[in-house]
Amino acid sequence: MLKQEPQDGEQSLADPNFRADVLSGLGGQPRAIPARWFYDRRGSELFEAITDLPEYYPTRTETALLMQIGPQLGALAASNAAVVEFGSGSSAKTPILLRAIDPAAYVPIDISGEFLRHSARELSAGFPGLPVLPVEADFLRPVPLPPEVSGLPKLGFFPGSTIGNMNAFHAVDLLRAMREWLGEGARLLIGMDRIKSPGILVPAYDDAQGVTAAFNLNLLERINRELAGTIPVEAFRHRAIWNADAARIEMHLEAQREVEFSVDGRTFAMDAGETIHTENSHKYGPNGGRMLLRAGGWTPIREWTDPQDWFALMLCEAQPLRMAP
Ligand code: TRP
Repeated sequence: MLKQEPQDGEQSLADPNFRADVLSGLGGQPRAIPARWFYDRRGSELFEAITDLPEYYPTRTETALLMQIGPQLGALAASNAAVVEFGSGSSAKTPILLRAIDPAAYVPIDISGEFLRHSARELSAGFPGLPVLPVEADFLRPVPLPPEVSGLPKLGFFPGSTIGNMNAFHAVDLLRAMREWLGEGARLLIGMDRIKSPGILVPAYDDAQGVTAAFNLNLLERINRELAGTIPVEAFRHRAIWNADAARIEMHLEAQREVEFSVDGRTFAMDAGETIHTENSHKYGPNGGRMLLRAGGWTPIREWTDPQDWFALMLCEAQPLRMAP
């Protein structure tokens, strides 16, 4: 078989951060690659497909909940609020919120500028009178909001239980960064997936059609494509595991046999049964969820769940911090 050597110029196509994360992640113990590298073009398409799967309840549950509480949100929101969405992506949930609260401005923040401008244009078309002010930025680093919204009350929006893809340490960092962005007095509407039976949780991350498996395995294909890898993808299996101790679903790629491969000229060996850890999805009970928000500087003021208590939308406020007592 032909070994794929990097072509002239191919090296420069790969993102140096991707290369660095993959090389250190494959060499580490436990082996792990940051989840952000899932989302190349194919990965993003597969992720969209995941949100439609019968087993994947979060998207549909959160969307229905948002529609149901729309009138209550409308009554709670200030009439001249600016909605600031973190990691807006292509969210289908945004129009539901915008229709419910009829804000004075919408500020989508995303790290991917092209995607951001495209979805901002699409959204604008559906809300002709609404100023849409996209900000291309990494929201872990405080950047000023557009001057147009400086005097307006802020409502942050962070759906999808994306907060659960961070461990508690990084989730608190992120919540504090959001507080910096939005300022004291701001509110935040955040989606959190609830702890529930592993019989429901595991299939949501390991569906019968194998879409989540394809999504996870695409990471190995991406490494082979972009980093001159020789990983035998067929020797790996997608695993979704409920880690009860950490209250999270873990996604892994498990070697089914002893494997040896190279990436960017470096060789790696794995034993049969060894895994590469690729994603965490933390789940929160009511108390854990509120505690996390408080640790990040946000005081919970209202929360809503679906009839089965599977998913929660929490509304919280950046109240002035005061020392005990
Ligand atoms: N935050 C969502 C969740 O944890 C979406 C998500 C992120 C996801 N990475 C994923 C879903 C990987 C499936 C597989 O459920």
